[in-house]
Amino acid sequence: MKVHQAFKAALATSLCLTAFAGGAMAQVKGAWQNNKLSPDERARLLDAELTLDERIGLLHGPMALSFPGGPAIPEGAIPGAGYIAGVPRLGIPALTETDASLGVTNPGNARPGDTATALPSGLALASTFNPKLAYDGGVAIAKEAASKGFNVLLAGGVNLARDPRNGRNFEYLGEDPLLAGTLAGESIRGIESQNIISTVKHFSLNGQETNRHWANSIIGEAAHRESDLLAFQIAIERGQPGSVMCAYNLVNGDYSCGNDHLLNKVLKGDWGYKGWVMSDWGAVHATDFALKGLDQQSGQQLDQQIWFGEPLKQAVAAGTVPAERLSDMSRRILRSMFAAGLFDGKPVTPTVDLNAHAAIAKQVSDEGIVLLTNNKGLLPLAGGAKKIAVIGGHADAGVLSGAGSSQVTSIGGNPASIPVGGEGIMAMWMKQVFHNSSPLKALKERLPEATVTFNDGRYPAAAAALAKQSDIVIIFANQWMAEGADAFDISLPQGQNELIEAVTTANPNNIVVLQTGGPVAMPWLDKTGAVLAAWYSGQKGGDSIADVITGKVNPSGRLPVTFPTGLDQYPRQDLPGWGLPNKQQFDVVYEEGSDVGYRRFAAKGMKPLFPFGHGLSYTTFAYDKLKVKGGETLEVSFQVTNTGKLQGKDAPQIYLAGANGQKLQRLIGFEKIDLKPGERRTVTIKADPRLLARFDEKGRQWHIAGGDYDVVVGPSASTTVLSGKAKVSERTLKP
Ligand code: BGC
Repeated sequence: MKVHQAFKAALATSLCLTAFAGGAMAQVKGAWQNNKLSPDERARLLDAELTLDERIGLLHGPMALSFPGGPAIPEGAIPGAGYIAGVPRLGIPALTETDASLGVTNPGNARPGDTATALPSGLALASTFNPKLAYDGGVAIAKEAASKGFNVLLAGGVNLARDPRNGRNFEYLGEDPLLAGTLAGESIRGIESQNIISTVKHFSLNGQETNRHWANSIIGEAAHRESDLLAFQIAIERGQPGSVMCAYNLVNGDYSCGNDHLLNKVLKGDWGYKGWVMSDWGAVHATDFALKGLDQQSGQQLDQQIWFGEPLKQAVAAGTVPAERLSDMSRRILRSMFAAGLFDGKPVTPTVDLNAHAAIAKQVSDEGIVLLTNNKGLLPLAGGAKKIAVIGGHADAGVLSGAGSSQVTSIGGNPASIPVGGEGIMAMWMKQVFHNSSPLKALKERLPEATVTFNDGRYPAAAAALAKQSDIVIIFANQWMAEGADAFDISLPQGQNELIEAVTTANPNNIVVLQTGGPVAMPWLDKTGAVLAAWYSGQKGGDSIADVITGKVNPSGRLPVTFPTGLDQYPRQDLPGWGLPNKQQFDVVYEEGSDVGYRRFAAKGMKPLFPFGHGLSYTTFAYDKLKVKGGETLEVSFQVTNTGKLQGKDAPQIYLAGANGQKLQRLIGFEKIDLKPGERRTVTIKADPRLLARFDEKGRQWHIAGGDYDVVVGPSASTTVLSGKAKVSERTLKP
């Protein structure tokens, strides 16, 4: 059978399985069928029916891709990230898993020709500061996944951006635990609303890609709780993901997936998490990870052994893994399946409105583009420009995307895919893939009166010559980032700084559009007219970039990561582990503790290039009437007025600025609001009390010291417009 037919057959089988999830359930008699019972109770009843082999079968499974020389994918699996066989005898459906951080993926075209909506990168989503868009995106991805037969989405990446070189920062949601946790939680909530299981990942401190299997993340307990763990905690509370994916790296000496402290004590103990822990693909190193809190081995052919198959069975027989623990593992999986409604006959094929999904992608890119500077008021482009040059970045073809397991084969096709090269298992991902949304084409459509000319930027002198003859020049500069590889530094690669230098020198009426996976240095900044951070803008990115440039969209993105002046503003100058041979463990010491990103800049009094939260608009906003109420936590309200001439969206931010005379900085609230000229609105937030607290390691609880708390309101972490204070009472909170 050809692969294509195999895929169709697998899809049909899986759709049957999804249907059977509800249908066959009705035929299988059992008390667990009663959907009036809680998911816990139903899981307990069903789990009791499992034989040892059936139970073990739920605890491991392969990557659903066939590798050269390896076995074929199991019957019933859909080619994609993962597969866990079901138990037809009891009506337990298979778990069909796909990567879905930015859309449903199709790795290596394993499902020939199958495409999906490509949402903008996580950093673009985070820049929207708009939780509703995260939710809508989650719903859209879940519908598409369900229509392809998947029921588990490997989404919900929430690792904080501790290092601007991290190759996966683009997938994640920036450097702040409240912003990242809220948006990840909303995206997960959207996915789970469609009766699809979501994950949250990669638990925890997978802060870099360099030698990620041997990186030992070192951090203090309180610092961890107040930063990355808090982002996970907020995301889990809001989104209720069915599964947590543990990470490749070690944390304080133990592998994340075999980390008793992280999995048993923090996640399942302190947080009372009821779902299951699945491993990352190739992250299991021993059978006794089961005792440390891991419930399921994913992508088993990437590990040295199928630890959770025969060896686990033997460990149970030998009594080294108690039968009760084995049952806990399968019960957790079944519980999440019941909680997501996988057994209850939900619609087999949801209606997928691809135009509506494209509109969501567009809205995320519209709101995610950050206008960093507009010094000369060049933007939005006035109608007068007759000759416009567009230079570099493959802007003629489309918009750049980030690579790795999150790579989406997008609707509309990928007009350019440039191999980067490389060796080993990750080499297949190493391609600069562009989504079919050409900024050049979109600009031409919006500027019919102008002559828009493209130059590919390979020769800076040629680009500069064209720039000289033009009224306006728009330069695209790309930083491609990929899973499995960090950027060596934060410079724009492949001579693009020289190109920008030459072009901006030739014509001061220039606009630089950055398509990056994180912050980059801008040695040419003072020569530019305007700079936009467009990130990886997804399937409709070219339209959004052109709409922002021409003023159809009023920019409202805000930076979810600090842009530094250079790497010397970060704690680690050299990338830990760079150049080390495989299997050589090394420490990544997170000495900044919970002072990630802007918090560290504030603590050290450093001035960044652009602060966290920064982003300009074509209108102006004023803030007044601040009220700060204390008590158990802080309640803050103030008024926002659009004082300009255009409708626009603002994302005012509320920061804790100090406690009892001690300076600190923490985002405690934000809101995205849309205001017409002259319109005003009151914004009110109630701070999550954990954001005011310190984690007390000894007492294993959050502790808020009573006293005076300072609050500031502003358009970024560096600009204060309003300030106030209130008394907060001493209290402790459960961990
Ligand atoms: C990634 C995960 C992904 C998994 C399955 C791993 O390499 O770290 O994020 O879900 O592969 O594709």
